[in-house]
Amino acid sequence: MEPLIADSHLRSTIYRRFLIFAIWLCGFQQVVSQEVVLKPKSSVPDKFVLSDPPAGLFDPIEISPAVIPHNPYPVEPLPPMYPSFPSTYEPILTGKCPVNFSSISDIVDKTASDCSAPLAALVGNVICCPQVNSLMHIFQATYSSESDMLVLHQAAANDCFSDVMSILASRGANSTIPALCSVKPSNLTGGSCPVKDITSFEKTVNTSKLLDACSAVDPLKECCRPVCQPAIMEAALRISLVGASMLEIFNIPGSGTTISVVNDCKGVVYAWLSRKLSPEAANAAFRILSGCKVNKVCPLTFEEPSSVIKACRDVASPNPSCCASLNTYIAAIQKQMLITNRQAINCATLFGSMLQKGGVMTNVYELCDVDLKDFSLQAYGQQGCLLRSLPADIVLDNVTGFSFTCDLSDNIAAPWPSSSSLSSLSLCAPEMSLPALPIAQTSRSSGSYGLEMRTLIPLMYLVSSLLF
Ligand SMILES: *[C@@H]1O[C@H](CO)[C@@H](O)[C@H](O)[C@H]1NC(C)=O
Ligand SMILES: *[C@@H]1O[C@H](CO)[C@@H](O)[C@H](O)[C@H]1NC(C)=O
Ligand SMILES: *[C@@H]1O[C@H](CO)[C@@H](O)[C@H](O)[C@H]1NC(C)=O
Ligand SMILES: *[C@@H]1O[C@H](CO)[C@@H](O)[C@H](O)[C@H]1NC(C)=O
Ligand SMILES: *[C@@H]1O[C@H](CO)[C@@H](O)[C@H](O)[C@H]1NC(C)=O
Repeated sequence: MEPLIADSHLRSTIYRRFLIFAIWLCGFQQVVSQEVVLKPKSSVPDKFVLSDPPAGLFDPIEISPAVIPHNPYPVEPLPPMYPSFPSTYEPILTGKCPVNFSSISDIVDKTASDCSAPLAALVGNVICCPQVNSLMHIFQATYSSESDMLVLHQAAANDCFSDVMSILASRGANSTIPALCSVKPSNLTGGSCPVKDITSFEKTVNTSKLLDACSAVDPLKECCRPVCQPAIMEAALRISLVGASMLEIFNIPGSGTTISVVNDCKGVVYAWLSRKLSPEAANAAFRILSGCKVNKVCPLTFEEPSSVIKACRDVASPNPSCCASLNTYIAAIQKQMLITNRQAINCATLFGSMLQKGGVMTNVYELCDVDLKDFSLQAYGQQGCLLRSLPADIVLDNVTGFSFTCDLSDNIAAPWPSSSSLSSLSLCAPEMSLPALPIAQTSRSSGSYGLEMRTLIPLMYLVSSLLF
């Protein structure tokens, strides 16, 4: 939360900083530190003109960012570092899952670090669970790679699911993954989908069309102008209708049963794709598709904000009790988890509309200086860490331990529903600064950033209330 009297010029600016939070976990104490790399962009285009709108979320828009280099981070003395690494051990397996796990070893390792024990719940929504889902699809295809089947029988699914979870835990992943990510053995069985083998699948689906659409998913375009998602949906629909009579086809469109059959069939389509693509290509594609899905919604839980509504109704100018109440409310919300910059837009909009429903008609985000970053986990007690909207992984570095990258588009004012600020932020704009991380990476490697700063701070100091 910024102080009430924060410079409004600063607030209205947009520029990016990248924080690399490196987290060290120290034995039982779990002293956790982070490394911060600050790289404000030296030049940002004056205007971003956006093209196609996302599926019904926001209209196309323009934003006009100004760039004011400013560095809110105190340069602090470096605390002692305690780099530490997940303790790994030999997993105990059921002995009943006939899979050579070494062929998917890289994906398993990636999943284990993405769901590393102390971080899993904080990154479950955007990092851990999407990667777990991807692993499940890839595993399903690996299991059956010698046969004509695209799915596992229930008994094999039970054993293999248990082995996969044991292996993940043995490599440092949190053992709560099944509950955290709502995955279970039946996810490997194809469920109620009537097509479970390659021969019928390839008879029913236009496979060249499906492969064309999904063999190289464009991370910038797929969420806005989807190519692979509709191809998967079409294939799932086709196989879901195999064996259905005309009467059934015309009687039950949209019914609950149809929807769950189509969902189960999507799992079969994913498994087929995993058979055709390399594990790495399949994983990259699946993570981009998950990214589109998770960025569309706000994953935070909002309690009824009655105290804020009471304090802020009929307020038209900066009002200490309204802002105090709003700050208190958001301070609790922001502890829930790490979210992406696009999710933060959704969260701000969702919460704003809750306030409006309660009769708060003034833009209290503006009055009280609430930024997008205020909706995410805080670093330095006051700087939100927004994850990038593109799929990201937790990185396990052999020197620094766990790290992950934050995209601090933190000077973007939180959008108040139906204000002009809302129409000035699009969720679908490859050209736009907010989610355009690949551009930033290019700029970074081309050296156009002027300032760099690294600071190490114990995570305890930042988010101790979260982890303990
Ligand atoms: C498992 O696969 C790896 C290569 O992917 C191979 O080197 C190894 O021999 C295989 N192990 C078994 C038991 O088949
Ligand atoms: C695993 O995650 C849960 C939250 O989902 C957390 O309470 C627990 O402490 C984590 N386990 C470890 C060993 O950090
Ligand atoms: C696993 O199954 C559950 C319901 O049984 C479903 O909600 C979830 O989306 C499935 N996950 C995947 C990755 O298919
Ligand atoms: C498969 O889809 C492609 C377009 O991607 C189309 O040209 C082709 O005719 C289709 N094949 C069949 C058998 O429908
Ligand atoms: C870290 O790993 C790299 C290779 O991945 C290796 O060259 C380097 O020596 C390792 N550093 C330490 C401190 O183990």
